[in-house]
Order: sequence, then C-alpha cells, then structure tokens
Amino acid sequence: MEEDLQELEIWLRDALAIADSVLAVEVVRIEALGKKGRLTTLLKTLGRLSPAERARQGETLNAVKQTVLALIETRLAALREAEMEVRLAAERVDITLPARPEPEGCIHPVSRTIDTVAALFGVMGFSIAEGPDIEDDFHNFTALNMPLDHPARQMHDTFYLPKRADGSQFVLRTHTSPVQIRTMRAQKPPIRIIAPGRTYRCDSDMTHTPMFHQVEGLVIDESTHFGHLKGCITEFIHAYFESDTVPVRFRPSFFPFTEPSAEVDIGCSRRGGEMKLGPGGDWLEIMGCGMVHPRVLTACGLDPERWQGFAFGMGVERLAMLKHGIPDLRTFYESDVRWLRHYGFRPFE
Ligand code: DAH
Repeated sequence: MEEDLQELEIWLRDALAIADSVLAVEVVRIEALGKKGRLTTLLKTLGRLSPAERARQGETLNAVKQTVLALIETRLAALREAEMEVRLAAERVDITLPARPEPEGCIHPVSRTIDTVAALFGVMGFSIAEGPDIEDDFHNFTALNMPLDHPARQMHDTFYLPKRADGSQFVLRTHTSPVQIRTMRAQKPPIRIIAPGRTYRCDSDMTHTPMFHQVEGLVIDESTHFGHLKGCITEFIHAYFESDTVPVRFRPSFFPFTEPSAEVDIGCSRRGGEMKLGPGGDWLEIMGCGMVHPRVLTACGLDPERWQGFAFGMGVERLAMLKHGIPDLRTFYESDVRWLRHYGFRPFE
C-alpha cells in the first residue's frame, strides 16, 4: 500500500506536469479519482482490512486524496491563468491608435427656437400642450369661430384630405390654434399652455413654405385681462431677443377667435436696406393675439361669464430668421448640410 501510494503520487505529478489543458487535467482527475480511478481502487481495499488497520490506512488514504485534489486544483489554476494570458495578448487593444472622427450633427434652428421659446414660457409657468397635425373641421375652424365662408377655409389656402364616407373632411391644420380647443375641452381652468408644432398652408414663395411651425399660447382663468396679455408678450419678446430696448407695439387687428384682437410688432430699422432690430422707426409684425372670444369659450364648454383669458400665435421660422439673421425661409427645408452647419447649433452650446 505504501508503495502504491508513492507510485501514485509520482505518476500524478508527472501526468499533471504534461497535462497542458483543462481537458487533459480532467482526464488525469478521472484516472485518479474516477469510479475506477487508481485512488478509488485503493480506497475500496480498505473494506478488507481489520478495523484498526482500516482506521490507519483510511487516514493515510484520505490525506493522499486531499493532496491529489490540491495538486489538480493548483494545475488547473496555472492553466486558467495561462489561458487568460493568451487571451489578453490576443485581444489587446491598441489605445495609441487615433480615434476615427465622428461626424458631428447639429440642431436645426427651428428645433432650437422652439426649445428657447418653451424655456422662456416655462419660466412664466406655462406647460406644453400638443395636438394632431391632421385635424378635423371642428377643431381647426368651427370651434375657433371661423364661419363657413372664412377665407382660410378656401380650397386654395388649406390642404384638405379626401372626403370620408360620412361627408366629413380632415385638413392638415392651418394653425396651432386647434390645440387651444383640445386643451380647454380636456382640462379645467386655470390653463396656461403653449403649443408648438407643424402647420400647413397651400403657399410657397420667398416668405412662405407649405409646412411651417407655430407656437400657440393660451391662458384661461377668472381674472386674466388684456394688461396681462401685454405684459406677458412684452416680457417674452425682450427675453427672446435678449434686449429690453426692442420696442413692442400692440396694433388693433381682427381674428375670429379673439376679441379684442391685436397684432404685435417689434421696432426695427430698415435704413440702408439692412434690417436691424431696435428703435429705428420701422415695424415688423411677429405675432397675433387677443382675448379669447366668448364663442370659443362656449364651444369648449366654458362659461364666458366666469372664465376669460388670452391667446397668441407666432411663427417659429420668423422668430429664428430675425434672431439669427437667416435671410430666406425656403432654405430651412432644403436639408443642405452646409446650411445646417452654418445656421445650426451644437448640442451643448
Ligand atoms: N392662428 C393665427 C394664425 O395662424 C395666429 C393667432 C392669432 C393665434 C391670434 C392666436 C391669436 O391664438 O390669439 O395666423
């Protein structure tokens, strides 16, 4: 037995030394400790011994078994480490290689302008509302007190979708004002929202594109009056153009959905053919506004005796052109990357 054990250990050390993979070590392990393994066989002989002898030999054999297991484990650890070294060497990343240049995108002036407008009204407590680009007649016209013969309803001004079986006809919304209607019908006052979004009209020249953007505003509560409207819009214009000296003028006007209505002009100078914002004797129209018409409130289920407020609407492209000196509206939608690189904004600026 003593000899057997010595031989076993010599054999094991040799076998492990030449086992050069995890699999080869497993073969050695089975040969030593498997069901018919060398050590297992020796362990089986214990049964034939006297109790005293069995205790002694058993102890020895168990000690040998622990040694065998430890030798195998040591060999496995060495092999795993070697395998890892090989992998690390093979998968080495050359961090000295210069990075490939990433093409850098930029933010379109329309997106940037909407973000700026939203942030400024956000400070004044407005939240954002949305509505669909494809509107029905009720939200786009009727509820806004636009009668059937209103010019905006003419075929040549509005993109109509084909008539449906029930005779109704959807339109690509001609303004963001329908979002006022949707908001008032969906939530109880007080309301204080802006609604930026796409709008569509059958128009195309230097200053018109068939698709453009507007921001609508709506404030409804029990006591908001025209003074609040003037203060809010003036505050916005000064903040947006980053100048407290840009003159702001409210010029009486007409919109079916407001009464009284006004157009808002900002002061500029056109001397020498160049347009400059500021006090200069000339005026430039930038938005429409007014006190929400009682008929509009009624169409939204609000009692005009109790609720009142103001609304406004402005063109986003026009705001962007004025602030950033972009001369031609049509270039906004030509998707020329050179234009974007020039007039676009870097994300974190
Ligand atoms: N919807 C108008 C347009 O497209 C703009 C407008 C004017 C909106 C006055 C308003 C408003 O809310 O009060 O020309």
